[in-house]
Amino acid sequence: MSSPFVLYVDDEAANLVVFAAGLRGTVQVVTAPSGATALELMRKQEVAVLVADQRMPGMSGVDLLAAVRAEFPDTVRILMTAYSDLEAAIDAINRGHVHLYLRKPWEPVELRQVLVQAVERYSAVRWANELERRMRETERMYSLGVIAMGVAHELRGPLTALTMNLELVTDLVGDVSEQKTLRDALRDSRTSVQAIGDIISSVELSTRSRTDEDVNFREVVEFAVRSALGEARHRGQLKLFATDVPPIRGSRTRLGQVVLNLLVNALEAFDPAQRQRNLLSVTLATTDGTALLTVEDNGSGIPAEVLNRVFDPFFTTKADGGTGLGLAISKQIVEELGGSIQVSSTVGKGTTFHVRLPVVATA
Ligand SMILES: Nc1ncnc2c1ncn2[C@@H]1O[C@H](COP(=O)(O)OP(=O)(O)OP(=O)(O)O)[C@@H](O)[C@H]1O
Ligand SMILES: [Mg+2]
Repeated sequence: MSSPFVLYVDDEAANLVVFAAGLRGTVQVVTAPSGATALELMRKQEVAVLVADQRMPGMSGVDLLAAVRAEFPDTVRILMTAYSDLEAAIDAINRGHVHLYLRKPWEPVELRQVLVQAVERYSAVRWANELERRMRETERMYSLGVIAMGVAHELRGPLTALTMNLELVTDLVGDVSEQKTLRDALRDSRTSVQAIGDIISSVELSTRSRTDEDVNFREVVEFAVRSALGEARHRGQLKLFATDVPPIRGSRTRLGQVVLNLLVNALEAFDPAQRQRNLLSVTLATTDGTALLTVEDNGSGIPAEVLNRVFDPFFTTKADGGTGLGLAISKQIVEELGGSIQVSSTVGKGTTFHVRLPVVATA
């Protein structure tokens, strides 16, 4: 990545040229002729260090730096003044608007030193902020883990009752009913109850052992698609193109979570008013010895600045209650199995997720 920019603001064009020339080869410089243009530019590109001349018509240097302090607090702010304006500089420093001040006319060696250090300071601040953000994230994950364990513990009892009753009903229906749909519904309900049990097991600390089984991925995908059909009906068309793939070593339930997360996200990206044109297609195939699941929708699409954050825990754009955990968990599950998950998207056109999973080698 290129190093971040130093922005120099001065209303005298000649100064801008000399400044940029004097720094060639040390730091990257951009220039602006006024405070207003500087602010506009900063909204478009990242600026590490701002050097502002004090005497400018319209917005003075100190005014500009005060505005930048509010809007871009990480940017290192340097005021440049002639000796006669020293009062303004001292006042600005004391009020915290300015980090450093440079005397005008500047001395090239000093200028370079100051700016190189300022860029370093900016990088250090950014790094510290990033660390802090990650630490907060870790803390949240930790508290969430504690809560999840408690919830899992409480769910065990009712789930056991539900399992027993479902088995009983299945036995009774098996004898008296010829209805295939009823039997299918019961079978899927039992699979879901089993899945809840597996999820609880994976959260409970005591039984942390991950289930390892040979999973028929096609069945998992078909089950997830059936589970999503109810929701899909109100939002668009769901098409499944599945072929048999070799077994995958992992947990049926956790793989099911991944598929369901992707389907639900895609359905949520649809505008229900456009039901006729909304299409979600799910494809399962074997390519290059791996299982490849493709989940493609023609929904809202994801803007570029959002795209590289969708796998971050707690990242959500859903105002009404997304946890932002769906894709983070999915990625973790897929990577635990040695696979990968990728996304590509175009705003207004739609989004495609690719999940690649290693299969059990067949002798
Ligand atoms: N198919 C998609 N189309 C458009 N945006 C998507 C799609 N899939 C994911 N996203 C974006 O990625 C974000 C993160 O997704 P993720 O599943 O992790 O969380 P969520 O869906 O917001 O919350 P939750 O999964 O808890 O309901 C979403 O808020 C959305 O902005
Ligand atoms: Mg989601």
